[in-house]
Amino acid sequence: MEPIKITENIYWVGAVDYDIRDFHGYLTPRGSTYNAYLIVDKKITLIDTVKHGFEDELLSRVAKIVDPTKIDQVVSNHAEMDHSGGLPGVMKAIGLEKPVYASTLGVKNLGGQFKDAGLNLKAVEGKLDLGSEELVFLETRMIHWPDSMFSFVPAQGVLFSQDGFGLHLATPERFDDQISEEIWGPLALNYFANILTPYTGQIAKLIEKVAADGLIPQIKIICPDHGFIWRQNPGRALELYSAWVQQKPKRKAVIVFDTMWHSTEYMARELADYLYTQGIETRYYSLKNQHRSAVATECYDAAAIMVGTPTINNQMFPSVADLLCYLKSLKMKNKIGASFGSYGWSGEGAKLVQAELKTMGYELPSDEVRVQWVPQEKDLASLKALGLTVAEAVKKQ
Ligand code: FEO
Repeated sequence: MEPIKITENIYWVGAVDYDIRDFHGYLTPRGSTYNAYLIVDKKITLIDTVKHGFEDELLSRVAKIVDPTKIDQVVSNHAEMDHSGGLPGVMKAIGLEKPVYASTLGVKNLGGQFKDAGLNLKAVEGKLDLGSEELVFLETRMIHWPDSMFSFVPAQGVLFSQDGFGLHLATPERFDDQISEEIWGPLALNYFANILTPYTGQIAKLIEKVAADGLIPQIKIICPDHGFIWRQNPGRALELYSAWVQQKPKRKAVIVFDTMWHSTEYMARELADYLYTQGIETRYYSLKNQHRSAVATECYDAAAIMVGTPTINNQMFPSVADLLCYLKSLKMKNKIGASFGSYGWSGEGAKLVQAELKTMGYELPSDEVRVQWVPQEKDLASLKALGLTVAEAVKKQ
């Protein structure tokens, strides 16, 4: 396994996971990478490790540069297992006595995860001496874990941003100038929508602080923990994040549903046509063939989310409940919600969806539309009214 040189003395030494498809409930259709970096200064420093199972890949890349036992210290920017899972194994290989630096909460979290691993955990204090250069730390609490922090080599303008500015893409290419935005753009939005949406407030504040401190022009290279390294255009990463944190909706509606015997599906199709004829960009998603995280990505920049469900045993459909639970956790802002669905006798499904959308803080311009058994002509009028009401609300946003 070969390391990749980033600057004269900084290398990528991470691992590529071509096979992962389920990343804690989020679909990663093109795999991912667990990025780790080696700084070869007087003190040889490893930044982050990899997911458990990929330790040998990391060590074999390091071994092409230096004997792994020559690593003097390790920095853990983020204690989530896709980066920390390999830490005990890597420390065992390089020397358990070597210090592992993390934020105060990182020390706490790593200590909790690896109680018996004998790690020499130390909380960072502002900066770390590398010999001729220094590593400066910036706490990024709740972006996206309590322990998260960035590390920065000011002398070279290299920012190690842990999950920030990452994306899930397994390729041999390691740099932004080797992959077109056509390929990585949707993956970057997918990553942001599914991982960082709940923390857009914190990210906006961080960007403001970094700008106010005059740090942005100093950032020449961004090295995230997933995906490629931004060496050609780190400004593009900052530009996208500055836009995405605003959660500004487009004139767009997502119609998402599940169906038992096609009645709710029929309603969804009618609604899609009505919205489209009103000049609204319309996306149609059946939960029979779409993953919750793909739907969430589409919802990210949509003004309206219209959710359809049949009633089953007095409840909404399980796949719809799954989606709503997921969307609720993402805490998306500036959304219009609507619900619809068919039923046979009790008909609670669409009402439950409507109530849930309300607890999520969505604006609800209409009551739910429910159809008993199979949609008839009179039902189409109700659906059309729902479509028009939502379209009007979207246009007002
Ligand atoms: Fe890539 Fe939050 O771990």
